[in-house]
Amino acid sequence: MLGADSHGRPRPGPTLGPVQQSPYPTSPTATSPTATSPSRTSPPFGVYVHVPFCAARCGYCDFNTYTPSELVGSGASPDGWLDAVRRELDLAARTVGPRAVDTVFVGGGTPSLLGPARLGLVLDAVRETFGLAPGAEVSTESNPESTSPEFFAGIADAGFTRVSLGMQSAARHVLAVLDRRHTPGRAVAAAKEARAAGLAHVNLDLIYATPGETTDDLAATLDAVLDTGVDHVSAYALIVEDGTALARRVARGELPAPDDDVAAARYELIDDRLSAAGMGWYEVSNWAASAAAQCRHNMGYWLDGDWWGLGPGAHSHLSGTRWWNVKHPARYAALLADGQPPEAGREELTATERHTERVMLALRLASGLPVELLDDTGRVAARTASADGLLDIADGRAVLTPRGRLLADGVVHALLAGAPV
Ligand SMILES: C[S@@+](CC[C@H](N)C(=O)[O-])C[C@H]1O[C@@H](n2cnc3c(N)ncnc32)[C@H](O)[C@@H]1O
Ligand code: SF4
Repeated sequence: MLGADSHGRPRPGPTLGPVQQSPYPTSPTATSPTATSPSRTSPPFGVYVHVPFCAARCGYCDFNTYTPSELVGSGASPDGWLDAVRRELDLAARTVGPRAVDTVFVGGGTPSLLGPARLGLVLDAVRETFGLAPGAEVSTESNPESTSPEFFAGIADAGFTRVSLGMQSAARHVLAVLDRRHTPGRAVAAAKEARAAGLAHVNLDLIYATPGETTDDLAATLDAVLDTGVDHVSAYALIVEDGTALARRVARGELPAPDDDVAAARYELIDDRLSAAGMGWYEVSNWAASAAAQCRHNMGYWLDGDWWGLGPGAHSHLSGTRWWNVKHPARYAALLADGQPPEAGREELTATERHTERVMLALRLASGLPVELLDDTGRVAARTASADGLLDIADGRAVLTPRGRLLADGVVHALLAGAPV
């Protein structure tokens, strides 16, 4: 998800976090708007909706989300949030003008805490303001413990087509290190319930290389994932984010930091097992069973699409201009109630910044980077990376090899700086 301040790690979502610099494929969200335009006259238009509520905070997570105790006395509430999102949608429609929405992604935080009725109202509001393009993809993230067969039936009825569930691991002791509240079995059951409810596409998020996770733990997790029949998997190396409970535990010596070599070996295991089961990688951290199962909303972030991010801390991008909202839900709602935009800042991307993002994001895709986007020194670096077994270059496009995917950030740096990996 660029997502909230964390969607590209899985944050490319509308609460954007930093772009991952780990040598290993990581994150789910926070990336930034991207880069290479597909050949169509106008880029796809997405709407991201950030739900800033969680029942409890997982020890590793630094997303823009709040637990009930953190909101006591602030005046923020799910209903206040919904009113404010509706006001921001009106603002978006006045700013953008008539434009049907190709993809909707309700992320968080924990959207499933809102329940199917409120999620349906969010989607109705998008329909009433912009309208949905035919065949629009409509996704929501959900935590396994706040879902049920009735929940999935409700969101399917409301028009959602895709659900993304945070499973993370099938090993109970790994879930404990991550401070997850659900049992391993609940995530698997939730995925099956979502499929049975008729949701066309179901994703499971995994976190790997958590301290204490063994190769056997990950292999059993992958068995459990494949047994559900989901058509999409996102897998992220555990990132120790500053300011989190996990970072404090690592600093105190209670837990070892995740090991890069272990992360690389675990990534290879994930890629081998998913590929053997017919799920191909299409982005370094994402695998899908078919082209139709790829997340079109995230592809919009990665391929220079336009999107409006609604909600506290959400990021937006329209034609090279980026802006982001205030992070606290009470402040966000107060600004909109007062008739003011909830914007906290904005930037016009320079040509250099756009180029850097285009290279960085396109290279993470299995469709690869058009070599023509590189300057002379970048092309020399690409040939060197190819000779080193990190890139395949064919038909004018450079695609990371399996080893190159383990060193994706280094390859990007080399192509931009014209230096060796
Ligand atoms: C917004 S959460 C998913 C929805 C829901 N809140 C949940 O946790 O089930 C997005 C995903 O980001 C990933 N994630 C968050 N923080 C991470 C971190 N520090 N390291 C690696 N992955 C992380 C997790 O896989 C998580 O499922
Ligand atoms: S439930 Fe999801 S968004 Fe909430 S704290 Fe945990 S990982 Fe972060």
